[in-house]
Parts: sequence; structure tokens; C-alpha cells
Amino acid sequence: MSEPDPAEGIAWIDGAFVPLPEARIPILDRGFVRSDATYDVAHVRRGCFFRLDDHIDRFLESMAGLRMSLGLTRQEIADILIECVRRSRLRDAYVQMTCTRGVPPQGTRDPRLCTNRFYAFAQPFVWIATPEIQAQGVSLVISDIQRIPPEAVDPRIKNFHWLDLTMGIFDAYDRGALVSVLVDGSGNLTEGAGFNIFVVKGRSLVTPDRGVFEGMTRRTVLELAGPLGLDVRCRPLARAELDAADEIFITSTAGGVMPVTKVDNQPIGDGRPGARTCALSDAYWALHSNDDYIHAVYS
Ligand SMILES: Cc1ncc(COP(=O)(O)O)c(C=O)c1O
Repeated sequence: MSEPDPAEGIAWIDGAFVPLPEARIPILDRGFVRSDATYDVAHVRRGCFFRLDDHIDRFLESMAGLRMSLGLTRQEIADILIECVRRSRLRDAYVQMTCTRGVPPQGTRDPRLCTNRFYAFAQPFVWIATPEIQAQGVSLVISDIQRIPPEAVDPRIKNFHWLDLTMGIFDAYDRGALVSVLVDGSGNLTEGAGFNIFVVKGRSLVTPDRGVFEGMTRRTVLELAGPLGLDVRCRPLARAELDAADEIFITSTAGGVMPVTKVDNQPIGDGRPGARTCALSDAYWALHSNDDYIHAVYS
């Protein structure tokens, strides 16, 4: 049998690095049987992590929010993630860190008795929209599916409750689009499977303020907007604002700042990626050469 290609990915499981296709978790881990887990995803671009410390901080905050803990320091977590990438020899990678509740002692269901488990892996970079699609612009539909309300599951804690988002992906494909954005109980827009949404009107950016995961790319856009002369508002975003938008874009670690040029099969503006979106996207990728934001994997 041939050895797995490390470029397919490397995982960290039970204290060892293993080829990603061979990585296995215990079937009774509540992360699997109850979606009782949190995770974070960072990316590596041209051999460097982007905002690695911020991703680890957010991961630790999510764990605290779910009353989980690992006997690992932030440096130990960073070292494992870096080593997953180094062993894969990937230069562009999607890197996930996961903490699950773990396996309860036999015959119990008490989450306090579980030893939380840490899993990590690096795999080839995953794009929501490839650079080729981004050049044309993404087609988005507004789904009638409601995002799980924040009163039920706090979306700021990155979680495995993805069935609303996954059904939203089906909805997009059924309607000839690439992505869909889900609504809240009042019909305002929230987010989609793995991304946040922004609307541009003149020099103003608007992104939903609640019921969403506060993405790292969203955070980066909020930081970049001021220096680019844009004003940002985090507030409820009504569906009608999409029709009236000059530009729309979505943000994700899996693709950066991605222009949306069609909503419900109707063109936005002139149907091409907008100037402000492109300026933000350029500024986002430029930060990937800024030493304050990156961490080199390879010496
Ligand atoms: C539900 C959800 N919203 C938004 C995002 C975007 O977050 P980030 O920019 O950190 O990738 C993600 C990322 O996976 C997500 O799962």
C-alpha cells in the first residue's frame, strides 16, 4: 500500500500527528453524537498563518463559553497547528482546531464527567468562491430558512449546529445560486454557511449585529473600513436593503472578501464586483504580507 500524500492533510489526534485520511474519532464522543463541540478555523496563505493568535483567543473564549477546557496552553495549541501545516508541507491551508466534550463514562450523560478532547488538522485551502468565481461575482439567494436564534444557541461561539446552514446550501443550489443567506425571526438577514454579509450604500457599510458568528474576516473588514474612508454600522439588516444596495459582499476565512453580484438572480448595481468591495478585498490580502498579522510556518 502506498503512503498517504501529506499534502492531503495532517491531523493531530490523541497526542500524535497522523495523515488526515487516517484520522478517526471515538464514535461516542459527544462532539459527534450531540454536536457538543466548538472549533475555530484559521488559514495559511503562502506559508504564513493569518491572525493565528486572534483565532486561538477566540477558540479559548468559545471553550470557556461552553464550559470546556483542555490542559493545553495557547502556545501548545499554536505549536500543534503549526506542526500540522509543516508536516503537510502545504503553503495554502485550511486549519481547524476543535474541542469536543469527549466521551462520557459508561452509563452516564453528565457533561461534567467528560474529559474534553482536542483535535486539529490542516488540509488544502477551501474556497467558498474560488478566485475565478470571485472575479465574476457570487450569486446569492435569500433563504426563508431561519438561522438558529441567538437565544437558543449563541452563534458567537463557533459551533457544529449547522443543519440550518447546510439546508441553506441546498436552497442555494436548488435556486441556481452558489450561496444563501438565512433570515432571523423578524425576516432580517443574518449570515450563511461559513460567511458574514455586508451591504455597501455610498460610503457606508452595514453588517448584521446579532444572530451571527463574529467572523475574523468580518472583524478585519471592520478594521480596514475606516482607513479606506468607509463608515461601518453593525445593526439589523433588512432584506429590502439588498435590493437597494450599491454593492454586496460576503466574508470568510474560506475566501476573504467575496463580491456578490446577483441576489435572487437579479444583478446588483451594474452586475460586476464593486469598487469598494474590490478595495476591501485588496486591503485584506495586502495584510497577508504585514508582519503584525502573519506567522511564518516555514523558516
Ligand atoms: C456561521 C459562520 N458565519 C461566519 C463565518 C465567517 O467567519 P470567519 O471570517 O472567521 O471565517 C463562519 C466561518 O466558518 C461561520 O461558520
